[in-house]
Amino acid sequence: MILNENVARKIIPIAGGKGGVGKSVIAVNLALSMSMFGKKTVLVDLDLGGSNLHTLLGLRNSNPGMGNFVSGRKYSINELLCPTDWENLFFIPGDVLVYGIGELSKSVKARIVKGLLDIDADYIIVDLGGGTNFTVVDFFLISNSGLIVTTPQTTSIMNAYSFLKNYVFRFLQRAFASDKKISVYLKKVLKERRPGEQKTVSDMIEDISRINSDAGEKAEAFLEVLQPKLILNKMYGAEDVSLAEGLRDLCARNLSISLECLGTVMNEKIVNRSINLQRPFILDNEENIVTDEIHRISQKIIQSSNFPEMPLELDYYSDSFELAHIEMENDLAALQGSTESEEDSDEYEVDKLLELIRIQQSKIQELQGTLRILSMNN
Ligand SMILES: Nc1ncnc2c1ncn2[C@@H]1O[C@H](COP(=O)(O)OP(=O)(O)OP(=O)(O)O)[C@@H](O)[C@H]1O
Ligand SMILES: [Mg+2]
Repeated sequence: MILNENVARKIIPIAGGKGGVGKSVIAVNLALSMSMFGKKTVLVDLDLGGSNLHTLLGLRNSNPGMGNFVSGRKYSINELLCPTDWENLFFIPGDVLVYGIGELSKSVKARIVKGLLDIDADYIIVDLGGGTNFTVVDFFLISNSGLIVTTPQTTSIMNAYSFLKNYVFRFLQRAFASDKKISVYLKKVLKERRPGEQKTVSDMIEDISRINSDAGEKAEAFLEVLQPKLILNKMYGAEDVSLAEGLRDLCARNLSISLECLGTVMNEKIVNRSINLQRPFILDNEENIVTDEIHRISQKIIQSSNFPEMPLELDYYSDSFELAHIEMENDLAALQGSTESEEDSDEYEVDKLLELIRIQQSKIQELQGTLRILSMNN
């Protein structure tokens, strides 16, 4: 695992648990933003079996990529770096040129991880596939500061939680791989996992301490290293942040990890349009709320010299979720201010307002439902 603190090269995997939440769109635009700020950034498509990043960048799929890297020994990782139309941004395609890579063996996974560590760049953004399986989790665990993308939809939040649960579990399994007794214990816990009656991580640490008190302390210290960050995508309003706060509380209570919020990206038409145009949206929409947010997220990463530690002014807000809430409210107020000054007809404004109220009402209902499910389930 790369500990992203004071290291020159920072690997940032992006996962989400659920498909279609916007991992790839965010990976592409975030990588481009970092390159615009002068950082040599490599974007890696590691969604093997579902590689599509080249399309979002408007590139043809004629370059060898991760598929070729794992299926032969012809290429070193740095030979796979494709230049893009944008200075400082490089790309490693996925497996579109290689048919049927299938399940990855342990040695292939290890080779990929070693390959990623050998890439020469300031930042390496790795787009992972959807799903919560251990292959995705293993790639996510390459660094202590991966990004989880979720939408405010109940299913997406639930999948993000499942992903994080597997992530912590897998981390403990790997941390204690050489300790026979604890490995046997963890295997047993995994086998006995049943919905609704699962052990919390702090229960597990207590059990581990009973097996070996040093190991219990070690487990607690290890867990502090994990600092995944959340990006909320396809947001409609600041109240959606409360859902993510439910996820944060659940992670603290059941998984003993602290989850921070790195940013909130609104649901915007230009994002979909940019996919059809095969061009990252931050290029053509400089004045847009989603472009501003992508640059803000990339600035938060670049300016935190000890990322994933984030310098938060705790006198002003209690945590990163409160900051996300404030940032979003300010952005929306600014947006409203700018649309008010435009000469829209009153009728149009009323329609927009009604639509907003309708969306907010259905969001509040969904929010209440999700919070209920989250508190029932665990
Ligand atoms: N902020 C947003 N506003 C509007 N649409 C969005 C936003 N983010 C993503 N989308 C849309 O959601 C769809 C899925 O996005 P994307 O392909 O990035 O998801 P993904 O998580 O990478 O999916 P997969 O798991 O299939 O790889 C795209 O059509 C994209 O345009
Ligand atoms: Mg994707």
